[in-house]
Amino acid sequence: MNPLKRLGRRRASVLSLLAVGALVTPVAATAAPDAVRASTLGAQAAQSGRYFGTAVAAGRLGDGTYTGILDREFNSVTPENEMKWDATEPSRGQFTFGAADQIANRAQARGQRLRGHTLVWHSQLPGWVSSIRDANTLRGVMNNHITTVMNRYKGRIHSWDVVNEAFADGGSGQHRPSVFQNLLGDGFIEQAFRTARSADPAAKLCYNDYNIENWSDAKTQGVYRMVRDFKARGVPIDCVGLQAHFGTGGPPSNFQTTLSNFAALGVDVQITELDIAQASPTAYANTVRACMNVARCTGITVWGIRDSDSWRATENPLLFDRGGNKKPAYNAVLTALGGTPAAPAARPPTANRGTPAAPRGATDAAALPSRYSWSSSGTLIAPKPDATHNIAGIKDPTVVQYNGKYHVFASVASSSGYNLVYLNFTDWSQAGSATHHYLDRTAIGSGYRAAPQVFYHAQQRLWYLVYQTSNASFSTNPDISNPNGWSAPRNFYASMPDIIRQNIGNGHWVDMWVICDSANCYLFSSDDNGHLYRSQTAAGQFPNGFTNTVIAAQDSKYALFEASNVYKVHGTNQYLLLVEAIGSDGRRYFRSWTSGSLAGSWTPLAASESNPFARANNVTFPSGAWTRDISHGEMIRAGYDQTLTIPSCRLQYLYQGMNPNAGGDYNLLPWRLGLLTQTNSTC
Ligand code: XIL
Repeated sequence: MNPLKRLGRRRASVLSLLAVGALVTPVAATAAPDAVRASTLGAQAAQSGRYFGTAVAAGRLGDGTYTGILDREFNSVTPENEMKWDATEPSRGQFTFGAADQIANRAQARGQRLRGHTLVWHSQLPGWVSSIRDANTLRGVMNNHITTVMNRYKGRIHSWDVVNEAFADGGSGQHRPSVFQNLLGDGFIEQAFRTARSADPAAKLCYNDYNIENWSDAKTQGVYRMVRDFKARGVPIDCVGLQAHFGTGGPPSNFQTTLSNFAALGVDVQITELDIAQASPTAYANTVRACMNVARCTGITVWGIRDSDSWRATENPLLFDRGGNKKPAYNAVLTALGGTPAAPAARPPTANRGTPAAPRGATDAAALPSRYSWSSSGTLIAPKPDATHNIAGIKDPTVVQYNGKYHVFASVASSSGYNLVYLNFTDWSQAGSATHHYLDRTAIGSGYRAAPQVFYHAQQRLWYLVYQTSNASFSTNPDISNPNGWSAPRNFYASMPDIIRQNIGNGHWVDMWVICDSANCYLFSSDDNGHLYRSQTAAGQFPNGFTNTVIAAQDSKYALFEASNVYKVHGTNQYLLLVEAIGSDGRRYFRSWTSGSLAGSWTPLAASESNPFARANNVTFPSGAWTRDISHGEMIRAGYDQTLTIPSCRLQYLYQGMNPNAGGDYNLLPWRLGLLTQTNSTC
């Protein structure tokens, strides 16, 4: 974004086109956009803030059909066996993480979330543990196992099954016998949860079990009493995992009651291992609907991808058949999540006969279209001034979805200049009521800070907030949801790189943007003078060492103005560049380009006023256009890490717009945030 303070007369003449009237009519916040429909399970679940996951077996990751479906459909991954005790600590003190790392790193690179399964379980437990005969030894071994495994994946696992299947089947409602129960007594579960909380405070800690879906079962009641007791005594527990391994009839009729009763204790519920004998579409739909009807049911995991991948393979219990085709239950699930099943895929043209077919995932993700149309929400986020923040506009949003929430950072503009604000919410209907946390109260400090970009650095396990000061600056935070966790600003550069100094003219150095591939990180920035710059550093050096600054793209000043975004397109080798331009009508809009590499040259995609990426002429509005500007914003990403991966389908873009009649002081313009949803997605 452009620093208001330094707006010269040159700039004002362009902006005068906006200054049609001095009267600023406040734009009322409207309801959330109409339910947006996606065509994959993960994308659709994400629209209600949920995840849709699957169990993954490391041994199958070489199978292209399997990974094609995995990457297309699922945004959470549970290692099926690779994080269990027999896999991670087969002999005492000897930890092996090869297969678990393979799944975790792969998922993270693709923006998929991870569930941890499982730390303390009587099954798949190595013999050396079950033969321990001494309580103190076992307690030490258990705590060490929990701590070591959780440390390995610290900050990377959204939910951990801390204890699995500790309750007995049948009418007792008591714990089952196990080495843990027999030596440590009932308290072993509490001990495990306390140890887990100190090992990774960011992970949700779950108790996971099967046959606890029917509210009237003694086993369900036993688990319920334990969770109630834990909450009453402050024993750390955040969620209950209901495995949901169902017979042909699917869930019991009181399944939703069970979910809401657990949730009412103050824990999340998750369906963690769903499979249903013979995969009746109705049974699947009933299961998903029960979760959708309970606000604290935060996600669903199916226990495998194709029937042939299932631990119950003879019962054909999953959503994809052995060939990887969607079964009727798939469509039932997508519909129950609120999505629209796609029409059956057309046969490939005859000319392609003999060419091996690409996996459908790859086909779906093949290429972004070269024309776009969008529908916009009304204004979703407006400034919330307080006693010390007399905010006129909220601008330049950056957004990630993490842990079931949208996390938004934005610039706030007032007569005294620019600083940053943070808010989070579970879905767009709640965006308008979220609390605004002003970051000038944190170590980020007061003074000129604007145009933030947020991402998680997976290897460093740190969130980065990149923003402009008079340099390119950043702060870090181990916990995105803690506004007070940000570090004081540091600069990426010692001073403005020479090539920028030589080309900036009367422009401004603005809108810094970081994106990494596996080898390098790149820092893009604009100069309000027709140049997009790119610096680079080795991935392992980040955030240090940005050098080799070059002009990555150039055009006339207003055609390549500012607010660039660069993304990796999920499942493809394509990168997408968006740059904000000022059109012949004086209004802001976005042009787009693609490239096969981040350091490559950019080929126009939808890059003109008549075929824009996003401009008033390809956006429809709910009831009259609340803005004619489609200005500085952020794509809704498929993940949240430094690869900045976006989906290839059903794009959404959070942007700034404003009342077309507003004018006057640039710093006091009434910018608001709204959401675009692509309406011409073909996949
Ligand atoms: C199963 C796996 O799917 C199989 O591959 C393995 O042989 C046995 O375990 N409850 C659980 C899961 O918590 O870990 C189990 O997974 C299925 C039942």
